[in-house]
Amino acid sequence: MYRSHTCGELRKEHINKEVTLSGWVQKVRDKGFMVWVDVRDRYGITQLIFDEERTPNGVLETAQRLGREFVIQVDGTVIERESKNANIPTGTIEVLVKNITVLNESKTPPFTIENETDGGDDLRMKYRYLDIRRNPVKNSLIFRHKVGIEVRNYLSNEGFIEVETPYLIKSTPEGARDFVVPSRMNEGQFYALPQSPQTFKQLLMVGGMDKYFQIVKCFRDEDLRADRQPEFTQIDCEMAFVEQEDILNVFEGLTRHLLKEIKGIDITNFPRITYDEAMRKYGNDKPDIRFGMEFGELNEVAQHKDFKVFNDAELVVGIAVPGAASYTRKEIDKLIDWVKRPQVGALGMVYVKCNEDGSFKSSVDKFYNEDDLKKWAEATNAKAGDLICVLSGVANKTRAQLSALRMEMAERLGLRKADEFAPLWVLDFPLLEWDEETACYHAMHHPFTSPKPEDVKLLDTEPGNVRANAYDLVLNGNEIGGGSIRIHDKDLQALMFKHLGFTEEEAKAQFGFLMDAFQYGAPPHGGLAFGFDRLVAILGGQETIRDFIAFPKNNSGRDVMIDAPAKIDEEQLKELHIKLNL
Ligand code: AMO
Repeated sequence: MYRSHTCGELRKEHINKEVTLSGWVQKVRDKGFMVWVDVRDRYGITQLIFDEERTPNGVLETAQRLGREFVIQVDGTVIERESKNANIPTGTIEVLVKNITVLNESKTPPFTIENETDGGDDLRMKYRYLDIRRNPVKNSLIFRHKVGIEVRNYLSNEGFIEVETPYLIKSTPEGARDFVVPSRMNEGQFYALPQSPQTFKQLLMVGGMDKYFQIVKCFRDEDLRADRQPEFTQIDCEMAFVEQEDILNVFEGLTRHLLKEIKGIDITNFPRITYDEAMRKYGNDKPDIRFGMEFGELNEVAQHKDFKVFNDAELVVGIAVPGAASYTRKEIDKLIDWVKRPQVGALGMVYVKCNEDGSFKSSVDKFYNEDDLKKWAEATNAKAGDLICVLSGVANKTRAQLSALRMEMAERLGLRKADEFAPLWVLDFPLLEWDEETACYHAMHHPFTSPKPEDVKLLDTEPGNVRANAYDLVLNGNEIGGGSIRIHDKDLQALMFKHLGFTEEEAKAQFGFLMDAFQYGAPPHGGLAFGFDRLVAILGGQETIRDFIAFPKNNSGRDVMIDAPAKIDEEQLKELHIKLNL
């Protein structure tokens, strides 16, 4: 038996008990006649004590030869500790060792296995198995497990069945590039790894499964960011005989359940806003509503004066940054530089200081008097002490720029609190999105999303204004889920493909199986998918999903630990009928 207890288990009530522990050596303190060793496993740390008087011959000497991360097994007696450590649950006891076995030696680890490590990102990724021994990473994985269990509990209780769908499939259009797998048995042909199980879950609805879910890996070859990995996990769901309202209710329920069970928080407010409203109020389809700074449109009160920049702009829009009227000229100049960075792209910024005495001081005093500025303050909901920041230009771009500034200011002012949770639904997304590069419309969600019935008539005349029965779930400024009511009528689906620029043959070649299935009694259906990694990270108070994935890829899509992707040998290439042309 390797152990009678774990390294996190022993307490005062175990005093005088004979125990066996196994684990890794965290630290050795050697006073010559006495040695203390901290032994660690997943459950915690226990202090071992070896001394000349009470420890049998040879055992103390073995302890003195231990190095960091050696794997050991000890037998001994639990005794009361003289100097207690209130910081760890086992801090009142120690184990007086009688026997020690070195189960395995260890090279000195390349970084310290402590909560605060000296290892940089790259090094920790290369030795991820050592990183996982550290509490922050270990605890994130345990946390992920707990969220997964709660998801399964909730959905099972709601009657959802977990069904696995294949990974070797054909392209599913979710807007990214596919990862492809060559087929040895079918020369010149490739599988695509699923960007999501979208078409399969719809086929499960045709198959009568009624309520499906799956915690499932998805693969997307796209540029990586803090909240994106090339392989990531979704909580993928689909329901039959439902309307949008039914779906929103079930997944609002799941979100509430998770916040309650995982964070102990009762969500009172779960707002729903339309895409248009989100863009107008926050310049963003995934607004963080934990704080205000809602947009105030200023066209009416700022145009038709002599300020040409504003007069020529499609949109003049501002936010009131709380308490920032005290910014110095230098600080404001820095802020102006910030919005002019290429990543944000504004041409400049007009500001108004709302002084405590009710007066205003602006960068455009030449054009606007106190009465004008008072109207700006009303439109942006500015209070005394606030700084109104105003951008202008083409509407879409200006909104995006002001949204970036809003998020930046919230970050700087500490308004994005990790322990505060503000979920919301964003509804009525546009069905189609114009793509400048290819000069055609793309499905904003995916091609199976149903248009709002009342907007179908606009498909031919104003395709950009057709709204979809599509929705996103947003949590603290992150899109954590998205879905839609699907088209279940084969003629409407064919019409959609046509509007997306597919010829009949192309649509048939790529999605013929779905169109075929729709001829055999497809029920009305819809669903959504949560980004599981994102959800877990945000519940864990962070926005970088990598920390919640056991073996993540780096920003170039590499696994630096196993060194993938990698070359394959000539023989393998030949079998796959692949000739490299490098
Ligand atoms: P969508 O493409 O919106 O919808 O994806 C659903 C959710 O998955 C998460 N997500 C990602 N997480 C980490 N890394 C990525 N590269 C990544 N890409 C997406 C996001 C997103 O909200 N089949 C549809 C769902 C449906 O219609 O039912 C789909 O995949 O949190």
